[in-house]
Amino acid sequence: MKTIVDPAELQATTLAWRAQGLTVGFVPTMGFLHRGHTSLMGLARPRCDRLVVSIFVNPLQFGPGEDLERYPRDPVGDSAQCAAHGTDVLFMPERLYPPGHLTRVRMTGLTEGLCGGDRPTHFDGVTTVVARLFGLAQPHLAVFGEKDYQQLTVIRRMTLDLAMPIEIVGGPLIRDDDGVALSSRNKYLSPEQRRRARTLSGSLRAVADAVAAGETDVGRLVALGRRTLDADAIDYLELRAADDLSVLTTVDRPARVLGAARYGQTRLIDNLAVALPGAPA
Ligand code: PAF
Repeated sequence: MKTIVDPAELQATTLAWRAQGLTVGFVPTMGFLHRGHTSLMGLARPRCDRLVVSIFVNPLQFGPGEDLERYPRDPVGDSAQCAAHGTDVLFMPERLYPPGHLTRVRMTGLTEGLCGGDRPTHFDGVTTVVARLFGLAQPHLAVFGEKDYQQLTVIRRMTLDLAMPIEIVGGPLIRDDDGVALSSRNKYLSPEQRRRARTLSGSLRAVADAVAAGETDVGRLVALGRRTLDADAIDYLELRAADDLSVLTTVDRPARVLGAARYGQTRLIDNLAVALPGAPA
């Protein structure tokens, strides 16, 4: 595995691979890697000839007062994990954006509710960084986790809208044994917060089970989810259409229940597929 820090060197490397007819797979991350990230590498690896993983904590996607400064970092451990999971190039730039960088990629609609409601500048930062990373890594396919389901939907839409010839692959959300979705931010939780954080996945499961048992009224389902969720604050708990995240009042097609909850300073997100009785999720 080679580690590259210079954006121009990454682009020269991936363009040379493409010129040789090799397919490039890409897994963008912010580091502090866990099994969720390595599962994305595992999905990419057999689908490409060369695998690029990036680690960059992108300041543009953090709002004022968020955890940019304290975001956990472990470059040595991350590098070992990337090497162990078949990465050809680990891209760890110190400076990702060129001096004087002015361009922002901004999506409307899809970015405005759910996480975009609580973090109004977040998705502008995500689409901007992912567009630049795509330009540098020149991937044929890129893998994003379903843990950030809205992000995955936004990236799919961006590649469609901007005619980027990149296949976007969604990787299943990975949970710890207690049901909590794996996240680099779980590190912030005290034992007491961790115990209560289990109710986030539990509440989504309660909603999914209720739909599987035939309940389709979104108002009642959301009330059920909120009743079973123990958090310091609930940013949202919503049911949306699985394909385009449109608002539902009745579950009449494949849907997703999505939640964001706060434990002290820590904000966790989670989501689950929901399907009507007998229907595939
Ligand atoms: O999901 C993440 O880790 C980040 O949002 C991403 C896609 C690497 C962009 O910074």
